[in-house]
Amino acid sequence: MSIFTDKHLLLGVTGSIAAYKAADLASKLAQAGAQVDVILTPAAEKFVTPLTFQSVTGRRAFTESDLWGGEAHVLHVGLAHQADALVIAPCTANTLAKLAHGLADNLLTITALANRAPLVLAPAMDGGMFDAPATQSNLATLLERGASVIGPAEGHLASGLSGRGRMIEPAEIFGHLRLVLGRGGGLANKKVVISAGGTQEPLDPVRVLTNRSSGKQGYALAQAALDAGADVVLVTTPTALTPPIGGRVVQVETARQMLEAVLAESAKADALIMAAAVADFRPKKAAGNKMKKRDGIPQVQLEATEDVLEAVAREKSKKKRPRVVVGFAAESRDLLSNASEKLKSKKMDMIVANDISASDAGFGVETNRVTLLFAKGKQESLPLMSKVEVAEIIIARLAALLEK
Ligand code: CTP
Repeated sequence: MSIFTDKHLLLGVTGSIAAYKAADLASKLAQAGAQVDVILTPAAEKFVTPLTFQSVTGRRAFTESDLWGGEAHVLHVGLAHQADALVIAPCTANTLAKLAHGLADNLLTITALANRAPLVLAPAMDGGMFDAPATQSNLATLLERGASVIGPAEGHLASGLSGRGRMIEPAEIFGHLRLVLGRGGGLANKKVVISAGGTQEPLDPVRVLTNRSSGKQGYALAQAALDAGADVVLVTTPTALTPPIGGRVVQVETARQMLEAVLAESAKADALIMAAAVADFRPKKAAGNKMKKRDGIPQVQLEATEDVLEAVAREKSKKKRPRVVVGFAAESRDLLSNASEKLKSKKMDMIVANDISASDAGFGVETNRVTLLFAKGKQESLPLMSKVEVAEIIIARLAALLEK
């Protein structure tokens, strides 16, 4: 179940060329499971049609003509009252001004005035209009009232000018919306540190010793924790993934850097999830210059790296240790006995045991099959599921552990 499942979202579309991008946003939200009701202003209808939105949301899209129909007197109140969030994307300078001053002169602004759900605005306008003192003052008013304003971005504008005024991309608006919906979730006001990816230990300036971790499970955990309202710090090695919106990202490469970053961030954290595949060995000495073929085959001596979870477990001051520590066990044999041993030796509260010998679970793939082992002895075997679903379950169990 995604955070959007069965959520009622109101999407207001106003008169900007970016209105065509709102169709993409509506489609993304509908695909994620939300029920999306779209309201087009008269100016928006000059750029896009209600049919565009009906086709992607599977629901009726509302226009100005609905304001004067037989059900008009209840329509705007009904739309506003069932909304979990109202997002206006694109939001023109004109609509911003109306919202700031409480004007109610079309179906969207009337609905916005009746709305009590979180308001998310993605402004779009031409160069100069955004910086205009009137717009800035309207924005300040709306921000003070608790609206979330995302963007606009710098770039090419419809007028041919370049400047700050482009609507932020639909994927980013989608990310911000899930942050807004997650507020007040099971991890609200909790700081969760999550490590992800495979560490890289330098052999010389161009080569590293690393592993097959893609970071997918760790990034999915970061997103699930954000969806639950947590304050998330993602300590990550370089990966091909885009970090979820709303988390703070700390980039590291080596096990030593991972250790330093995790210890520093864990000091005031409520929970730590070590999903990273931390190297157990590194070259004792990285060559200062690129190793040359002509110098023959290098003999590389390895040494042990720092163990991050052991260091956290050793932390004497309780204040510096997160209340709940979760680790992973990547095993190719004796899954449960090895995981159980790690759970105890690294003093974790929960360990996610992962059989990496299966082709549909573990490194690189989209799915995972895990067993959760708890310090108190309970075990929970989960069937094959997506890493996103695994992440949601781990976060739900983590929230329960933090409640105790
Ligand atoms: N871990 C860690 N620091 C390390 C190695 C691992 O913090 N240097 C963490 C991992 O992030 C994971 C847990 O410890 O949450 C178990 O990692 P795993 O690689 O399965 O186990 P190891 O303890 O390294 O033991 P082995 O490689 O012998 O199985």
